[in-house]
Amino acid sequence: TDPKKVTLGNGTDVKGTRVRVFGRVHRERRQKDIMFITLRDGYGFMQVIFSGGLSKTYDALTLTRETSMEICGELREVPAGAHAPNSRELHADYFRIVGKAAGGDDAITNRVSRDTEHATLLDLRHLTLRGETASKVLIVRDAVEFAFNQVYKELRMRKVSPPALVQTQVEGGATLFKFRYYSEEAFLTQSSQLYLETCLPSMGDVYCIEKSFRAEKSLTRRHLAEYSHVEAELDFITFDDLLDHLEHVICRVLEVVMDDPTIAQHVKELNPEFKMPERPFMRMKYSDAIDWLVEHHIENEGMEPHKFGDDIAEAAERRMTDIINRPIFLTHFPAEIKAFYMQKDKDDPRVTESVDCLMPGVGEIVGGSMRMYDLDELMAAFKREEIDPATYYWYTDQRKYGTSPHGGYGLGLERFLAWLCKQHTVRDCCLYPRYFGRCAP
Ligand code: 4AD
Ligand code: MG
Repeated sequence: TDPKKVTLGNGTDVKGTRVRVFGRVHRERRQKDIMFITLRDGYGFMQVIFSGGLSKTYDALTLTRETSMEICGELREVPAGAHAPNSRELHADYFRIVGKAAGGDDAITNRVSRDTEHATLLDLRHLTLRGETASKVLIVRDAVEFAFNQVYKELRMRKVSPPALVQTQVEGGATLFKFRYYSEEAFLTQSSQLYLETCLPSMGDVYCIEKSFRAEKSLTRRHLAEYSHVEAELDFITFDDLLDHLEHVICRVLEVVMDDPTIAQHVKELNPEFKMPERPFMRMKYSDAIDWLVEHHIENEGMEPHKFGDDIAEAAERRMTDIINRPIFLTHFPAEIKAFYMQKDKDDPRVTESVDCLMPGVGEIVGGSMRMYDLDELMAAFKREEIDPATYYWYTDQRKYGTSPHGGYGLGLERFLAWLCKQHTVRDCCLYPRYFGRCAP
């Protein structure tokens, strides 16, 4: 009878049995007449041993990395003192090449060396995805996305799928991708927030995980043109409720993710210093952050001391977060530097009930706020921002037909991952990054 087909990850096999595996050659080395092959299949790695006649066959002698193959043999414990993935090795008695990989000058390993330019690496993203770091980050990403769904379900929130092709802006005209939609002008969505707000009256608290698009023209390590946006909207809440919810979601997602031993191991390898954030998160008002920046001699973009009303730029924000070195809820931003829809603070109308969650190494990973729910106030905000309210009739109608205090937030999935997996750039936290100058492969 044919041996059972098993995957290369841990737990699926019994030592001492004969099994069949499929995978690609990750590494290979020879010691006299013995060949050691590390086979990879996306679930894990397995050490395979070719000895005797097998190692002297033409196919074995000309074996190249990335070649795909089928192998049968007996699984055994590795000898004491030797190392192999999951402490086991496959003693092959049969193998077959499925797809030979180009060797010599065309080998992937020759083209992708340690000092290959980042741009070249991204041209070869379809191949560099096979690397250990790239694949680990994407496997963690899968777990994180799944965990958000789980945690929102625990909170009885409903998932919806708003449109990507829209005719309203959310976060300012400067980063809109415009395109011709038949005979009209339309945009790629910057955020699903406004649509989520329309779901509250009949669906309860809602969330979505959709793509958002920003025509960012600066090349930074945390801006993409297309990113995955985890957004949530909650009805009949206060600003404090919003902060508590956000803290719960972030911590619970981390708990769920780290509960999976394979994922926890990946995170540990990518980010050895990772530890669960301490609760409660530090809460700091924008005005206190300005004071903090002045005290620490961190200047604004005009190379002057920060003052109330300044945008806290990426570099300053990250320096502050790195020095404080724990998650921060930065709250109460001035209305002028924030989007039109943000609710003003009752006690200080200069500022809004807004929050950014900042993480060491990355800075802002979440932006959220309470929403203006008074119609007249919202109309005045449109006017101030010189936005034509006509196209927003469906948004303003929410304020006409049973308005409510509500709020929500958007979390950039790639930024969350850059923090969790300690990646230098969000470009390495998505499958095929899109940013200024890159739309391929
Ligand atoms: O702060 P932002 O612009 O807020 C909004 O879009 C709100 N309408 C969300 C909401 O309340 N539903 O974006 C939210 C988050 C940022 O904190 C950041 O993590 C991420 O989206 N983000 C980006 N990620 C990658 N590349 C970009 N160009 C990003 N722009 C924002
Ligand atoms: Mg923001």
